[in-house]
Amino acid sequence: MSNLPHPEDFRKADYPIERLFIRRWSPRAMSGEPLTEEELLRVFEAARWAPSTYNEQEWRFLYARRDTPHWPLFFDLLIEANQVWCQRAAVLGVVLARMTFTRNGKPNPVHLYDTGSAWENLALQATAMGLVSHGMAGFDFEKVRTVLRVPDEFAVAAMFALGRPGDPNDLPPELRERETLTGRRPVRESICEGPFQF
Ligand SMILES: Cc1cc2nc3c(=O)[nH]c(=O)nc-3n(C[C@H](O)[C@H](O)[C@H](O)COP(=O)(O)O)c2cc1C
Repeated sequence: MSNLPHPEDFRKADYPIERLFIRRWSPRAMSGEPLTEEELLRVFEAARWAPSTYNEQEWRFLYARRDTPHWPLFFDLLIEANQVWCQRAAVLGVVLARMTFTRNGKPNPVHLYDTGSAWENLALQATAMGLVSHGMAGFDFEKVRTVLRVPDEFAVAAMFALGRPGDPNDLPPELRERETLTGRRPVRESICEGPFQF
């Protein structure tokens, strides 16, 4: 049983929503145990069903499993602050977004928007399966392109870690303190009926 906090003890939605949205969060404590091929494919399957402009499915996911030859390539892309806790992740991933339409080669203005949907599907599916996911911007974007041979028509969107829940006590003290649930500003501060007025 994980010592991780339970999101629903700390987060309350102001309006009724599916529990899954509240239960997804970004722990850093992971156990280091591997995921099965089946688990991994289920998580990526959820991403597959995201909506996208003209059904472009701009997203591509590169990944490396722990204790495989690809792992160091991915791990070395991360800033040190992320390497500290990603050591115990089961999978490290890179999210790519195709920037041009496959139909005509023209720029696709929503490539990152659609790809973000796919990532969130993945994160919610991981939560539903009792796994943890954690998005990351703390890595060397340019190095991803060269080390992982990403073609020019793909944007490097983000990285992520996936794993099984771990024990926060195994984290260094400064990260253990940060292993807490975030809140959100009230919904009315994110929405506006009519022209921009925030
Ligand atoms: C695209 C993206 C990049 C992020 N980058 C990092 C990162 O580099 N390191 C880190 O520890 N957390 C990172 N996070 C986690 C966020 O800080 C976290 O999602 C946010 O505080 C909201 O908390 P929650 O996901 O637990 O609800 C990132 C999250 C996203 C979606």
